[in-house]
Amino acid sequence: MTEYTLVHDAAQLVRNGDNGLDTVSGAAVAVEDGHVVAAGPTDEVVRAYPGENAVVAVDAGGKTVLPGFVDPHTHAVFAGDRADEFTDKLRGKTYQEIAAAGGGILRTVRAVREATRETLVENLLSQLDGMLAHGTTTAEVKSGYGLRPDTETKLLEAIREADDRHPIDLVPTFMGAHAVPDDWSTDDYVDHVIEDQLPVVADRGLAEFCDVFCEAGIFSVEQSRRILTAGRDYGLTPKVHAEEFERIGGAELAAELGAASADHLLEATAADAQALARADVVPVLLPGTAFALAADYADPDQFAAAGAEVAIATDFNPNCFSQSMEFAVDLACHGMRMEPGSAIRAATVGAAAAITRRDGLGRLREGHPGDLVIADVPDCEHLPYNFGVSTVETVLKAGEVVYD
Ligand code: NIG
Ligand code: FE
Repeated sequence: MTEYTLVHDAAQLVRNGDNGLDTVSGAAVAVEDGHVVAAGPTDEVVRAYPGENAVVAVDAGGKTVLPGFVDPHTHAVFAGDRADEFTDKLRGKTYQEIAAAGGGILRTVRAVREATRETLVENLLSQLDGMLAHGTTTAEVKSGYGLRPDTETKLLEAIREADDRHPIDLVPTFMGAHAVPDDWSTDDYVDHVIEDQLPVVADRGLAEFCDVFCEAGIFSVEQSRRILTAGRDYGLTPKVHAEEFERIGGAELAAELGAASADHLLEATAADAQALARADVVPVLLPGTAFALAADYADPDQFAAAGAEVAIATDFNPNCFSQSMEFAVDLACHGMRMEPGSAIRAATVGAAAAITRRDGLGRLREGHPGDLVIADVPDCEHLPYNFGVSTVETVLKAGEVVYD
C-alpha cells in the first residue's frame, strides 16, 4: 500500500492557478513521495486517499491551507546584530550615515570575519526556525558579509550545511559585491570579486545566483554589469539590488542581462516596470525594508500593470530584522496596498519565479511539491486582515509535518 499524508476538511485551499489564486472551499490535499497527488474538494480527494489509510492525517477544519511561502531575498546568515543602529535611525540618522560612521554592512562583515563557520551555521539554523514558524518552506540566502574569498566561501558553506540540517530548502546566492571593504578602491574590489572570489565560489559549486548592490555610491551600473556578466560566464544567474535609494539604471541592467529578479525598486519608474516585464525579470518587492527605513513603499501596481509576476520577500538582514513572510504579506497589504490574494500569490508563485522555480513550487496542484501551511483563519483574506499575530499553525515540507 502506498504511504501518503492527508490534510482534510480545510475551510479554504489556495491552489494557485496560471493567473489567479484558484481557491477551493471544503478541501483536502494528499501528498505522496513529497509531491501533491490530489488537491481539491475533500470528498473527491478522500475517495482516492481515505483518511484511515493515511500515514498522517491532519484535520484542517475551519482553517486555510496554502502553499508554503517562498522567501526569495534574504541575507539570513550573519553574526551579531545591529539593534543599536535601529535606535540611531529612530533618532534621525540615515542608513547611509550609519554606514559612513563604520556601522551598517561593514560592521556585520567584521563580526562575520571573526565568527567560525560553526557559529554561522548555528545562527542561521536558529533564524530558519523563526522563518519556518511563519510559514517559509523555501528561502534564498545571500553571502555578502565576508567580502574576501575565504569568508565569502565560509558563509556559503554555512548555507549549504544549514540546508542539509533544516527542513527549509535553501537556495544560495553569491553576493561578494554587497559593499566595498575599507582600504579598497571600488574598481580594484570589483576586479577582486571577479578574479579571486567568483572562480572559487563557482568551482566549488557553492552558489546558484550572483547578486550585486547596484546603487549610487556603492557599485555603478557598469561595475555591476562586469560582475554579473562574469558570474553568468561561470553559470551563476544574475540578480540585482536595483533602484533602492536612487534610480541609477539597475532595473534596466537586470532586463538587459535577463536577470532572475530585480529587487527593492523603491525608486523604479513605470518604464523600468515595463522593461522588467518584457524581459521576464521578476520584480521582488521588500516592504519590510521600506518599513524599517521609514521610506516610501514600492508601487506594486506599476509592476502588475506592466504584466509582471510580482514577488515579495522579507529581505531579512541586520537592518531589516524580520524572519516572517507573514509580516511581509501583512505589510504588502497594509503598507503597499496590495490585495490579500495578490500578496499571497506574490509570496508563493511570484517568489518561486524570482528564484527561477517556475516548475510548480508555490502551487498546490498535482505533481507539485507537497509544501504547505495550515493557517488558523477561515480564508486567505483573513491572513493579512489579522495582522501583528501569527496565524500559521502547522507547516508541512514534502508532506512531512515539520512545524506544529
Ligand atoms: O537588501 N541593500 C543592501 N543590502 C541589504 C542590507 C544589508 C545590511 O544592511 O546588512 C538589503 O537591504
Ligand atoms: Fe538585500
